[in-house]
Amino acid sequence: MTNPRLQSLVDRLGPDAVLLDPDTLAPYAKDNKTSGLAPIAVVRPASTEDVQATVEFCHERKIALIARGAGSGTVGGAVPEREAVVLDLCRMTEVLWLDEMSMTVAAQAGMITEDLQRHVAKFGLSYPPDPASADRSTIGGNAATNAGGLRAVKYGVTGDYVLGLTVVLADGRVMKTGVQTRKGVVGYDLTHLFVGSEGTLGIITELTLRLVRAPETARTLVASFDDLESCARGVQAILASPVLPAAIELVDEQCVRAIQEAGAGQVAFQAPFLLVEVDGRAAVVDEELAILDEALRATGAVTRVASDEAQTKALWDGRRAISESLKKVSPAKVSEDITVPIAKLVELLRGVSEIAKPKGLTHLAYGHAGDGNLHVNVLFDPAVEGVRERVEAFRGELFDLTLRLGGTMSGEHGVGIAKRPFIDRELSPVSLEMHRRIKAALDPDNLLNPGKIWPAPMGDSA
Ligand code: LAC
Ligand code: ZN
Repeated sequence: MTNPRLQSLVDRLGPDAVLLDPDTLAPYAKDNKTSGLAPIAVVRPASTEDVQATVEFCHERKIALIARGAGSGTVGGAVPEREAVVLDLCRMTEVLWLDEMSMTVAAQAGMITEDLQRHVAKFGLSYPPDPASADRSTIGGNAATNAGGLRAVKYGVTGDYVLGLTVVLADGRVMKTGVQTRKGVVGYDLTHLFVGSEGTLGIITELTLRLVRAPETARTLVASFDDLESCARGVQAILASPVLPAAIELVDEQCVRAIQEAGAGQVAFQAPFLLVEVDGRAAVVDEELAILDEALRATGAVTRVASDEAQTKALWDGRRAISESLKKVSPAKVSEDITVPIAKLVELLRGVSEIAKPKGLTHLAYGHAGDGNLHVNVLFDPAVEGVRERVEAFRGELFDLTLRLGGTMSGEHGVGIAKRPFIDRELSPVSLEMHRRIKAALDPDNLLNPGKIWPAPMGDSA
C-alpha cells in the first residue's frame, strides 16, 4: 500500500532503495539523543545520481528532505520535525580514488569514518579527524556538522581536511566545490560554506579529503589530579610547553564510574585525569613524553605512561564509551559541547559548579580539554517534579557563562534542534540575517532540513 505520492520515486529508484514501512521508518524519528517525527519515506541512494533523483522528486512536490549519515548526532540535526523524506546515505561507502603521493583521497559521503581511516592506513597515510563516534559516524555527517574529535589539538577538525565536495543543490543540480589539490583559492570558499551547514544548504554526496603521513608511533600518558580545576591547569601547562600532543582529553570520576558500571571497561587510573597522546617519530615521542611528564608533575599531577598497547587501547576505548555509558547509567542526561579559550578553562569549571549547585543538579565534565571543549553533562531523573525546568535553566546559564568567557555554545555537535532556542545569544541579528539570506539563495523553497539551526520565527516559512 504505497503512498501514491511516493510511487514515482519507487519507480525511479527501485523498491529496495525506498523504505516505506512504518516500522522501518520509526527509528529515523530520532538521532542519538533528540527525537522528532518519523519521515514519510527513507531513500537509500547508491550514487550522486540517486540523490539527484530524490532531490528533484522532492523539489517538484515541495516535500522537505533531510540528509542523514549514521544518525549518531546528538542535537537532532538529521531528525524530521514535519512531513519529510530522509535520505539515508549509508549505502554510499565507496572510496573513489586515492592519490598516495599527493596525500588526498575522495570517497562517498556514507563511508564510516573508521573505515576510511583503516583504508588510508594501508598506504601509510592517516585521516586525522577522529570523533568519538568514528566507528559508526560517516565522513559526510562529519563534514555536515564539522565534527571535531579526539585528535583536534594537533590536527584540527573535519573541515580542516575537506578540500572539495560534490553537492546536490536544493533544485537537483549537482555542484562541485573546491579542489582536488592540497591548496586552492579560486572563488569563494563554497566548500566551507557547506561544511558545518547541517544539511540546510545542500546534500554532500562525495568528499575530497586531505591526508597526512601516518605517524610512526603514538604513546599515551595519564596524568591524575586532585580535582577538575587542577586538571585544567595541567592542560594549560601542556599547551605552554614546547610539545603539542595529538590529544588532551579530560575524564572525571563520574565518567570512570559510568564506564565501569556500563561494562565498557576497567579503568586503572585515579580520576580525574588527563589522557594525553603524543605521536610522531619514536625517538622524538620518548623525548616529548619526558618533557610533558616534567611539566605535568610541576603542576602536582601523578603521571604514568600507559605500559603497553592493550592498556592504551583500553584507555581510549573507555574514553570513547563515556557518552554511551552515561546514557546507560542515568535515566536521562543533557550533554553540551561548549568551548572556551584555553586561558578560561579554570573559570569555566568553577562557574559550572556555581551554576549547578543551587539547582541541586548532578553535573560532570569530560572531553576535549586540550581544545577548551568540554562535554558538560547533567544527569537527572525526568520523573522528579520540576527537574526539567532546572536543567533548562542550567543550560541557559551555562551558555551565558561560556559566551561571557569568549567561548561558543557548540564546539563540535552543532545546533540542530537542541541548541536552536539559544542561537541568538551567540549570533547577532546581522549575522542571523546573513544566514537567512544565504539559506534563501541556495534553498529558496526551504526544503533542505527546514527549520534547523535557527527558530522558525526568524522568517522561515517552516
Ligand atoms: C564525545 C562525543 C560525545 O566526545 O562528542 O565523546
Ligand atoms: Zn566530543
